[in-house]
Amino acid sequence: MATTDKVVAITGASSGIGEATALLLAERGARLVLGARRSERLADLVARIEKAGGTAVHTRTDVTRREDLHALVALARERFGRLDVLVGNAGVGPISPLDDLRVDEWDEMVDVNIKGVLHGIAAALPVFREQQAGHFITTASTAAFNVVPAMAVYAGTKVAVRSICEGLRQEAGPSVRVTTVFPGFVHTGFAEASSNTAVRERIAGMRDEIAIPPDAIARAIAFAIEQPADVDVNEIAVRPTAQS
Ligand SMILES: NC(=O)c1ccc[n+]([C@@H]2O[C@H](COP(=O)([O-])OP(=O)(O)OC[C@H]3O[C@@H](n4cnc5c(N)ncnc54)[C@H](OP(=O)(O)O)[C@@H]3O)[C@@H](O)[C@H]2O)c1
Repeated sequence: MATTDKVVAITGASSGIGEATALLLAERGARLVLGARRSERLADLVARIEKAGGTAVHTRTDVTRREDLHALVALARERFGRLDVLVGNAGVGPISPLDDLRVDEWDEMVDVNIKGVLHGIAAALPVFREQQAGHFITTASTAAFNVVPAMAVYAGTKVAVRSICEGLRQEAGPSVRVTTVFPGFVHTGFAEASSNTAVRERIAGMRDEIAIPPDAIARAIAFAIEQPADVDVNEIAVRPTAQS
């Protein structure tokens, strides 16, 4: 099956990489099930997709809540009879030096970036087993390859995502594909998340200088989906050429 007709659920679809992925896959014929917390943005995205002739539904999804991932997967099956791909993309990055002791933000990064991915696996894996087909695509970060000051916790969550997805791949067997995408600097609202002013300004400045558009990541995700069922693209890093 090419992208056409595939049923693809995306978490964190309300902005940035998730939104760009929804728009690109809809253009290529996928039927989309969109999740995030900001329902009004999802409703607007569904309207734009439908206006362009595509098919999409949405449901408010907080990935820290296990039951929300089950509801997202259930919506795919109810509306379209199956789920072919789960794009676990939701993530937060309120980065700061450890000395700031922004412990609530550390918790949030662990809850969204790690547990949110696990909740998606828990919801979709039994469905993929039953169908004897399925594809997990997860957004990690190039921070999984190298940690820099102020990014210890964020990078740690993305290292965890990489390990979890590689373990999943090894256990997945011949019918379930596992792809992890490692974006570098991408032009989204992500850089504004830090509550440390100096860090926020530094990251936003670097973003404005070198970041690539979220569509660049969407194309990598589409590439992985479009391979034949016996070809599993496991890890893709997509950075700005100018990123060190
Ligand atoms: N931008 C970059 O430079 C960059 C680089 C490497 C990796 N990434 C990764 O790319 C992914 C997408 O980020 P982005 O750059 O596109 O930033 P973004 O525009 O801020 O998008 C983040 C998305 O995650 C969603 N989200 C946050 N918390 C959530 C929760 N508890 N439940 C459900 N959805 C939640 C947000 O939706 P709601 O607020 O509506 O819930 C939003 O749709 C993240 O995993 C991020 O770590 C980004």
